[in-house]
Amino acid sequence: MISLENKAVVVTGASRGIGLAIAGAFAAEGARVALIARSKPALDAALKRLPGGKDRHLALKADIRKQSDIKRIISQTRKRFRRIDIWVNNAGVGTHRPITETTDREYNIIMDTNVRGVFYSMRLLIPFFRKQKVDTDGTRGPRGQIINISSSVTRVGVANLAVYAASKGALNLLSESVANEVRNEGIKVSVFSPASTDTNLMRNLSKKKPNRPLSPSKASVKLTPLEVAEGVLFLAKQNMNAWTSFADIRPLSVRR
Ligand SMILES: NC(=O)c1ccc[n+]([C@@H]2O[C@H](COP(=O)([O-])OP(=O)(O)OC[C@H]3O[C@@H](n4cnc5c(N)ncnc54)[C@H](OP(=O)(O)O)[C@@H]3O)[C@@H](O)[C@H]2O)c1
Repeated sequence: MISLENKAVVVTGASRGIGLAIAGAFAAEGARVALIARSKPALDAALKRLPGGKDRHLALKADIRKQSDIKRIISQTRKRFRRIDIWVNNAGVGTHRPITETTDREYNIIMDTNVRGVFYSMRLLIPFFRKQKVDTDGTRGPRGQIINISSSVTRVGVANLAVYAASKGALNLLSESVANEVRNEGIKVSVFSPASTDTNLMRNLSKKKPNRPLSPSKASVKLTPLEVAEGVLFLAKQNMNAWTSFADIRPLSVRR
């Protein structure tokens, strides 16, 4: 498998939850990570927790719904790490709401974060990857890789999650279409789709109070952020010629 030592990785939504676990997992493999989120204090706290020490990594306050912010992330990461090998579009939002109570504002926030931001990043990154030389320092990897975090709600419609599910369904096809545009150029685009994972977002989506720990019985049927992160690492470490276009992950046990 490919070594991630010194690879330059961008993780959006890295201040907490799944994104923080992904950033930590890459850092533990020796990668240098740019953490992206809107809250700078949360990012700075996350940076301090990364293996390898905070000076090896980068925290960038940005709103991925804005194309100008994504341009800035690309240029600042390149300036600091000299290249970008892997970009994980993890930032995502959702609300638990019947369709009749869903506002235009909520619709726009969910679609702009979960779809438009991913669209902007891929539109900007593909030309960037095309110009970037293949990394020959370590084990030969792809010219660039994008991993988009979807959700298992795209498999079956879930009541009260209509707009969230629709946004992730759009993300799946956006990703798989772009993947087929670039696969012959040494650029990998993959979708990684977790089931329910123990984070703040999951509590919002299931109408639970944020920051309330799950009861032990409920926790056993949720994934942990680390389990999701380890799945993402697997996609990043796969051999150059092996491309997982779509992977999902769920807890083995469904017992409550
Ligand atoms: N938890 C689950 O059960 C589950 C299951 C399947 C898939 N997922 C997906 O996994 C991803 C991570 O979810 P999570 O549960 O870890 O959520 P979370 O704990 O709520 O974390 C979301 C992260 O995204 C950042 N973020 C949100 N909007 C942003 C924006 N416009 N620009 C930049 N950063 C933004 C947040 O930081 P700021 O608020 O400071 O910006 C935070 O770092 C999402 O795409 C979600 O849809 C989650």
